[in-house]
Amino acid sequence: MCGIIGYLGDKNAKTVLIEGLRALEYRGYDSAGLAVFDRAGEVFIRKTEGKVKDLERYSASLSAEYSSGIAHTRWATHGEATGINAHPHTSSDGRVILIHNGIIENYMPLKKKLESEGARFQSETDTEVIAELISKFYESGRLIEAVASALANVQGSYGLAVMARDMPGTIVGARNGSPLVVGIGDSCLSIASDRNALPACARRIFYLDDGELVHLGAEGYRTISLANVETTKEVEDFHREIQHSDRAGYPHYMLKEIFEQPGTIADCYRGRILPQEGLARLGGLDPLDERLHDFRRIIITACGTSWHAALVGEYLIEELAGIAVEVEYASEFRYRNPIIDAHTLVLVISQSGETADTLAALREAKMRGAAVAGIVNATGSTIAREAGCGIYVHAGLEKSVASTKAFTSQVIALFLFALRLARMTKLSSDQGIRYLAELVSLPRKIENILNRAEEIRAIAGVFRGKSNCLYLGRGIQFPVALEGALKLKEVSYIHAEGYPAAEMKHGPIALIEPDMPVVVVASRCGVYEKVISNIEEIRARRGMVIAITTEGNEGIRRHVDHVFYIPEIDEALSPILTVIPLQLLAYYIAVAKGHDPDMPRNLAKSVTVE
Ligand code: AGP
Repeated sequence: MCGIIGYLGDKNAKTVLIEGLRALEYRGYDSAGLAVFDRAGEVFIRKTEGKVKDLERYSASLSAEYSSGIAHTRWATHGEATGINAHPHTSSDGRVILIHNGIIENYMPLKKKLESEGARFQSETDTEVIAELISKFYESGRLIEAVASALANVQGSYGLAVMARDMPGTIVGARNGSPLVVGIGDSCLSIASDRNALPACARRIFYLDDGELVHLGAEGYRTISLANVETTKEVEDFHREIQHSDRAGYPHYMLKEIFEQPGTIADCYRGRILPQEGLARLGGLDPLDERLHDFRRIIITACGTSWHAALVGEYLIEELAGIAVEVEYASEFRYRNPIIDAHTLVLVISQSGETADTLAALREAKMRGAAVAGIVNATGSTIAREAGCGIYVHAGLEKSVASTKAFTSQVIALFLFALRLARMTKLSSDQGIRYLAELVSLPRKIENILNRAEEIRAIAGVFRGKSNCLYLGRGIQFPVALEGALKLKEVSYIHAEGYPAAEMKHGPIALIEPDMPVVVVASRCGVYEKVISNIEEIRARRGMVIAITTEGNEGIRRHVDHVFYIPEIDEALSPILTVIPLQLLAYYIAVAKGHDPDMPRNLAKSVTVE
């Protein structure tokens, strides 16, 4: 979950690198560093604990023009978030300089062997061990060969950018498990862990594959495998995603992205529905078209918020299409012995398209012969490419670590998929038409909720001084309760648990203390009266109940302490509306506690390590 950027070109490398780091900061922000070469080939390294703005201040004295360099933002895996552990790291002889994203699993034995040969290490990191190892093989002018030789001894995941003190105009990249994309421009070459960090001069791009290295230099680029065999790459035009680099007037990306949802929801279904026929059209799934009838079982695998979207998908697909669905944590699925046959479809859901566990689960499913498809936000990401087909959710760049707009767009994509399957079997065109009429009403209903955000900010006040709370929901609202709890944990650091409402009496009710906040998602559904009973069980123990319910339900007021109303919507699409107040609640509580909701402690936007 670190950010990597490298640049060779005619612009000032330091400026280009700092700008790239800003676009990468959401991937990790414990510490940051850069190494730049001036026109005379002298190298300057600056690194510091803290954020990119701290590095900018710390490297302000580097005012000359620099022609090349590498830079890094860190999410600490091995070694605390300190200046010493920040990247770039250099070999003890100073010849090799590198930055790394990933985890080297055999770094300790490698470190011990290198120390026995006289190496001395400054940091606690695994990365420094790679620098020392490369230096052991390095002969002047042959950097990519030395990197390949060193990596032959390495186990684990890496995305590397390496430079040599005596080769200022060369950058070597290497990938195994952590993404790297190469940018090609008329007057520049660049490399980054995320395409959105590439400099403006990048006009075409290609992605490194696992076990592949690239040499960037004055003569252009060339790629080889770890076995030093030339490889050829499919170069594509680079259409930079319109990233609203500022916050568009919002205090944080998280709030901006919450408020973007009326638009991003519409972007997800636009061009994919035939309202007059009650049909969904998902061109990205065309490769599976012939097999859609054959699937008897669908496994959906993901992590975190995407896993919550998968749980909503389970309800939707089983309810609408009558096909059995199992939802699996990707981190579990990849190590289990899943039963997969020719009638199994495996859907992987990922906002970033780079989550290591989800990528590994995808590869496991493919290796076992399953049909696979991705539901991904980041176009061109590793999971999107390796899935081969799927549905892009078109939520746009999501920069806040806490995922909001991607979640609702993932649910829309799953709804469209469920409708596509259902209309092939049990759903009539009239039913399909009615569902689509509900779907297209969502943007204005989300606006209705967002226009009353201040009501949520007022409710957030009851969480002042609280350290524990519960989120409850039944049926399709249970995953929403889980998602609301995760949002609160991530950005406010308040311990929150989501449970099926009926599960309370099997233990969790022991947690209820006077005035303990309990958020209940009580949309008008088939078991609504039972949800009211659960609320009464909480009130009997003087818990404080905050209800999210459907407008017009005035009767609930006598059972709860606070209520927030959402517009009427079909139960199948209700998670899109019930989750919005929970997103806002987490945001306002975090801000009230003085936290930066965009960069919560210990977290990173894309978990590209196990
Ligand atoms: C969500 O707010 C978290 N940032 C986290 O749980 C995230 O959903 C998870 O890491 C999966 O990420 P992905 O969707 O990019 O695969």
